[in-house]
Amino acid sequence: MTRALATLYRLVYAGILSRLPEPTAVALGQQALRVLPLDRLPVFRVDDERLAVTLGGVRLPNPLILAAMYYDTRILRRAMGLGFGAVTAKSITTAPRPGHPQPNLVRRSSAAGPGLVNCNGFANPGLVRFREAVRDLPHRVPLIVSVAGESAEDYVTLVRGLAAYGDLVEFNVSSPNTKLVYGWSTRPRELRAMLEAVRAATDKPLILKLSPDFAETNERDIIPAALEAGIRVVNYGNARRIEEPRLSQGAGGLSGPEIFPATLEHLRATRKRFGDSLDIIATGGVDTPEKALALLDEGATAVGYFTGFITRGPILARRILDALLARV
Ligand SMILES: Cc1cc2nc3c(=O)[nH]c(=O)nc-3n(C[C@H](O)[C@H](O)[C@H](O)COP(=O)(O)O)c2cc1C
Repeated sequence: MTRALATLYRLVYAGILSRLPEPTAVALGQQALRVLPLDRLPVFRVDDERLAVTLGGVRLPNPLILAAMYYDTRILRRAMGLGFGAVTAKSITTAPRPGHPQPNLVRRSSAAGPGLVNCNGFANPGLVRFREAVRDLPHRVPLIVSVAGESAEDYVTLVRGLAAYGDLVEFNVSSPNTKLVYGWSTRPRELRAMLEAVRAATDKPLILKLSPDFAETNERDIIPAALEAGIRVVNYGNARRIEEPRLSQGAGGLSGPEIFPATLEHLRATRKRFGDSLDIIATGGVDTPEKALALLDEGATAVGYFTGFITRGPILARRILDALLARV
């Protein structure tokens, strides 16, 4: 059944979604998620005690996390019933942002499989409106709220304003398509002060989302600074910055299977260097059960993905969970 659904989705993706202009496909996909009650269908999830993990002290019913992309609470609510052990909301900024003009998302095909390049630019409703929407969202599984800012003050404001509505708080210093956050990795000293200020602003577990483009700085400066500030979870990581002339910004973040080898390599290096002092969410390029299992075998506490949700459909989570259960 799950295999048949996976094949059916592949046909729909290849035959319909990937042939439509990107903005139409995105609108169609999101509308389908809002309207179709997929979260009521048991086929999309598995409830089994043996799958549970602890992330930053929070129990997740399984180690799969929907990575940051959606802020619409109707979609987040559905995603919570689609097999994930936790769902991440899109990064929220202090003020609303329209995001970058179209084209801000393009498909990219490669031998590794279908991927995406985006320069979304943090289209989001801003702190006040998102908070109003998210306060009524039931947490069927833990919710990770994500924040993005330009200054330590921004992050402190966001964390103070949103932490109460999430089970964990992720702070994004790594999205590659705005100057807003990408520059943080080039200023490790300032980043250290910011991490301390954010840590002091909430008791909730904090996740630092890293960029795959700064592996050396991450290991040398950023992760040690996070640990010293008392931050014990990293998400490694975000999309990889590449030139992309089809996008309005001429560059964007590559996501999907092409970045998987780097995700595996960064996870290995981080686990080796920092041992059990960190929980690690490995994100980037997961679109098959084998890739998710490979990351868990290399010491990931949890596995995040977004592009695989689009290219392989909502059944991917169930297929990964079945593969995990088959070997416990
Ligand atoms: C359209 C789009 C929007 C995204 N928005 C965010 C965001 O707001 N905050 C964030 O931390 N990551 C964001 N990401 C990055 C994903 O959460 C994820 O880290 C990245 O895509 C790599 O994982 P994947 O290969 O499984 O997609 C976005 C990715 C895409 C494709």
